Amino acid sequence: MIATPHRSESRINFRVLMRAAAYRYDRRAMAGAHDPHADPIPDRLAVIGQGYVGLPLAVRAVEQGYDVVGFDVDRAKVTRLLAGDSPVEDITAERLAAALASGRYRATSDPADLAGFSVCVISVPTPLREGLPDLSFIESAAATIAPHLRPGATVVLESTTYPGTTEELVLPMLEAGSGIRCGGPDGFHLGYSPERIDPGNAVYTFENTPKVVSGIDGPSLAAIQGFYDRIVDKTVPVSSPKEAELTKLLENTFRHVNIALVNELAMFANDLGIDVWEAIDAASTKPFGFMRFTPGPGVGGHCLPIDPSYLSWQVKRSLGHTFRFVELANDVNEHMPDYVVRRLIEALNDRALPVRGRRILLLGLAYKRDTGDARESPSSPIATKLVDLGADVRAADPHVTPAHVPAGVTLVPLTAEEIEAADAVVVLVDHSAFDPSLVAGHARYVLDTRRWLPAGPTVDVL
Ligand SMILES: NC(=O)c1ccc[n+]([C@@H]2O[C@H](COP(=O)([O-])OP(=O)(O)OC[C@H]3O[C@@H](n4cnc5c(N)ncnc54)[C@H](O)[C@@H]3O)[C@@H](O)[C@H]2O)c1
Repeated sequence: MIATPHRSESRINFRVLMRAAAYRYDRRAMAGAHDPHADPIPDRLAVIGQGYVGLPLAVRAVEQGYDVVGFDVDRAKVTRLLAGDSPVEDITAERLAAALASGRYRATSDPADLAGFSVCVISVPTPLREGLPDLSFIESAAATIAPHLRPGATVVLESTTYPGTTEELVLPMLEAGSGIRCGGPDGFHLGYSPERIDPGNAVYTFENTPKVVSGIDGPSLAAIQGFYDRIVDKTVPVSSPKEAELTKLLENTFRHVNIALVNELAMFANDLGIDVWEAIDAASTKPFGFMRFTPGPGVGGHCLPIDPSYLSWQVKRSLGHTFRFVELANDVNEHMPDYVVRRLIEALNDRALPVRGRRILLLGLAYKRDTGDARESPSSPIATKLVDLGADVRAADPHVTPAHVPAGVTLVPLTAEEIEAADAVVVLVDHSAFDPSLVAGHARYVLDTRRWLPAGPTVDVL
């Protein structure tokens, strides 16, 4: 059912929503049912890309009764998935095994297996290439699915991208590749629904995080909202794919800018001799008008270092303006790894130690707590700078695989011996597998970028 709009959603285009509501009501009336969950389950869901976004969606849909084909061009990943070995922390081996055992989940690299899908979700990477949006993965996904499109089938783009991608890039590609029109009584449905998955977050999961949905017209929105209503607790319709695309970029830009704000403040506060963390704790007691963000060694992952640049690129391209907030946030956050290295050099200097030849133990190579995702992780430039300065750099991270360890760095377990042998320990990620008392009890010196340990004579906090 179309959700009752909240006050905050009051600006959405209600004409489109009412058309979608009327269309969905007609479908249910024709089916003789009033409960949206009584609609027949579509024959087959195809999920293009089985990564951090696509795999949780695929597994959840299997659990809700869908027949799911998880398509990925990475054959090694498909082999892993078929063997029940989950490459994504949020999907346990048990959940993947149950999905496989149900007989309704199949991972594949063969495009022929996409035949006959009713709903297809695209969740492929959208990186930057030389600072510019790289939509080649979306283009390749659209080209793969187009020959399998049928009238009445639904395609949803979930990859994060700039507003206009669904209608200006994906739509014409699907029409040209399928020979079928998008929209209308004989066409296929198309829309955009941003993914909000937060890897490692045990409180807000795929199911209980509201899902923004959109369609290129009323029937498309109805089909897309109907699909997600079965697999998440709450859907939030917006009037067109552009608003949905912008929603995702707004959320990530908001986070990026606010992290930059506290990072810059942390650098100034340190020079002023003020404890920024205490100020953040105190400000967080305000029950309205403040949202807590904390400093760190920089931003990483597939989202924050990349998504805001999609928005600033589009603003520049379409309007000729510079998106100053994004430029400034990029500047501050990209500078943080240099700042961490500088603070370490200063601390070693205070102890009459040069960096060259010093043994430095980095805690955490992933971009955030309790994930093995090392994409764009600030730990990487920090490690590389220290290696370049001649340090003996070791790193402990129980989640990251050896393939993601920066060149010149030795991956070690976090033991009392490793900690004691290090001239300095740098806390970059506060994985819950790390024991703070082990580090505090054995380290000669700690630079803690997460305020994981209390500051003291041998512990400096960022
Ligand atoms: N990871 C997150 O926390 C997160 C959160 C919200 C949104 N997103 C967005 O979702 C999208 C996917 O991100 P991800 O983290 O899942 O990436 P990922 O790298 O974990 O997974 C993407 C998968 O797509 C596969 N792939 C690439 N091209 C393909 C093609 N043409 N056909 C089939 N498979 C293909 C890759 O092999 C890979 O397995 C991105 O746009 C990202 O910005 C990610």
